[in-house]
Amino acid sequence: MIARSVIDEIHRINIADIISPHVNLMRKGRATVGLCPFHSEKTPSFNVREDKGFFNCFGCGEKGDAITFIMKRRTLNYADAVTYICEQYNIELKYDSKDTPQKPVKDMKALHEMFAERAKISLFKPEGIAALEYLKSRGFEENIIKRFDLGWAPPDISITPFENSFTGAVIAGSGIFSKYRKCLFANRILFPIHSATGACIGFSGRTMDPAERSKYINSPETSLFSKRHELYNLHNAKEIMKKDKSCFIVEGYFDAIRMVAAGFPQTVAIMGTAFTKEQVAQLKRYSAEEYNLILDGDEAGIKAMMKSRDIAIECDIYPNVIFLPAGEDPDTFLKNNGKEGFDKILETRQDLLIHTIKNERGKGTDNNKRFNRLNDIKSILEKIKNPYRQEYYLKETASLFEVSEQTLSDDVSSGKPKNAVIRYAKKTGNINFMVEKDFITYLFLLPEDMTEHLTADLPQECFDDETFRLIYKKILEFFAQGDNIIELRNDTEVGETIADMLINKKDTPDCYSAAIDCKTKLMINFCDKERYKIADQITSTGESGNLEAYMEYLRNINKHQKKTYTGED
Ligand code: CTP
Ligand code: MN
Repeated sequence: MIARSVIDEIHRINIADIISPHVNLMRKGRATVGLCPFHSEKTPSFNVREDKGFFNCFGCGEKGDAITFIMKRRTLNYADAVTYICEQYNIELKYDSKDTPQKPVKDMKALHEMFAERAKISLFKPEGIAALEYLKSRGFEENIIKRFDLGWAPPDISITPFENSFTGAVIAGSGIFSKYRKCLFANRILFPIHSATGACIGFSGRTMDPAERSKYINSPETSLFSKRHELYNLHNAKEIMKKDKSCFIVEGYFDAIRMVAAGFPQTVAIMGTAFTKEQVAQLKRYSAEEYNLILDGDEAGIKAMMKSRDIAIECDIYPNVIFLPAGEDPDTFLKNNGKEGFDKILETRQDLLIHTIKNERGKGTDNNKRFNRLNDIKSILEKIKNPYRQEYYLKETASLFEVSEQTLSDDVSSGKPKNAVIRYAKKTGNINFMVEKDFITYLFLLPEDMTEHLTADLPQECFDDETFRLIYKKILEFFAQGDNIIELRNDTEVGETIADMLINKKDTPDCYSAAIDCKTKLMINFCDKERYKIADQITSTGESGNLEAYMEYLRNINKHQKKTYTGED
C-alpha cells in the first residue's frame, strides 16, 4: 500500500501542472479549460478546478483528481499512476507494507534488457552501418563488439514498444527516455553496464560526432544504477580475478574492452577519473590480492593517482600503479603498441605508495624541501591501517629521506588517527563492541528475508554502543517502510561508519549462523544487564514487580532462541 502521506503530497501539487503536459489549458474565470483528451471535440468542455484539485468534462462526463487523470490518460493502474507522478515530481515513494517496491525494480531490469537487446540488433542492421563502421575504424572486431553487447540507439528510437510492455512509472524511473519521450541515448553507441551479478542496470552512450559537446551520456542515478557503486565489466572479470587474485583497473569503457581483447580479461573500468570507496568494496568482494591501476602519464593521470591513493589507503588496499606515456590511454596504447609493448610497460609497475615516496624524495633537492616533503609523506603514513604495511613504508621512507626509523616512527605514531570503528570501542569501553559491530555488518550482507528474521524481537536496548544503537534504530525504520537498508550508506549521521564497517569486514563463510550467534550473545548480554537492574531495584525498593516482567522477558528470549536455531517460524 502506498502511504497516505504520498497521496497527500500529490494532492498538494497544482492539478493544472499535472494535466498541462497532456492538454492545452486556457484560463476562463475560476476554471481552466481545454479540449478534452478523452473524447473528440472542437469547443473546450474539459474543465480543471485548480482550487478544488479536480477535473470534469461536461462533454463526456469524465472526472476525477490528478491521479485519476494520469490513470486514464496513460492507461495505468492506481499504484503505477502514483509512482509515475512521484517520479515526475521527485516525491519519495513510501509504502505502508513491505513488499510492494520489489516489482518495479524487477521490471526495470527487464526494461534494461529489452533496451540493450534492441540497440544491439540495430547496430547490425543496415541503418546501424555508420555506428558499426565507427567501432571497426577504432579497431574493434565484431566478436569483441558482441562480447560486450555493444549497441546503437537509432536517432528516432520510439518509446512505444516499451510502453506496450512496461508501466509509465518503470519507464520514467529508468531514465532511458526523457519526460518528453525522447531517448537519452539517441544516435549514440550504447554500452550496457552490468551489475556484479550480470544484470543490465544502466547504460552509457558515446556520440560519434566529434563536435558534440557531451562525449558520453550515462544513465542517471536510478533504483538500479548508481555510478559510484559499479565497475564496468566486473561481472565478466570477477571469476578470473578470483582465480588469478589480480586485476587491472582502467578509466574508460573502450579501455576495458581493448584490454579484454588484448588478453587481459581481469580488467574493470571505474567509468571516469574518481575511484570510489564503494568500487573498492566491490573489488574486495572478489578478493583480488594484486590491484593494478593503469593511468595516463599526463597531469590528469597524476591527479587521478593522488585521489586513488587516498581512497586506497582508506580502504586498506595497496595497489600498483602503471603510468602510460602522456596522452595515451590503455585503448590507444594497446592499439599502437600491441600486447608486446604493453607487457614491457607492465614491467615498470610500482607499488603506488613506494612510487609516491620516491617521487616526493626526488623533489627534496635541498634540506628545506626534503623535510617538507617528508612531512607530506608522514601524513600519508599516519593513515595506513595495516601495521605491517605501515612499518614497511616507514622503513622505506626513513632510508630514502635519510632519517632514523625510530624518530620517524615515533613521530608517525604520535599523530596517527585510529580507524573510526576502533575509536568508538575505545571511547565506550564496551566489551560487547565486536559482537554488535559484526551483527550490524551481517545485516547489510544477508538477504532481506533473513535480516528481518534476525531483527525480530531484538530491541534497540541490546546495543550498548551509541552509534550501533543508532544504526540499528535506522535499520528498523527502513524495514518498517519497506526500504532497502543499503541506502543507509548515504545517511549523513551513520553512512561513513557503515561504509567503514563494510570495507573492513572479515570474511565469514556462513554469515547467517554467525549472525545468529551474535544475536544470542546480544540477548544474553541484555538479560544480564536487566537482571542487575532488577536486582538493584528489588534491593532498594523491596518490590518484586519487575521480577515478573523479567521472567516474562526470559521466556520470550528462550522461545526466540529455539525458533532461530531450528529455523521454524
Ligand atoms: N566519462 C563519463 N562521462 C563523460 C566523460 C567520461 O562517464 N562525460 C567516463 C567514461 O566511462 C569514459 C571515461 O570516463 O570512458 C574516460 O573518459 P575519457 O578519457 O574522456 O574517454 P575515453 O574512455 O578515452 O573515450 P574515447 O576513447 O572514446 O575518447
Ligand atoms: Mn580513449
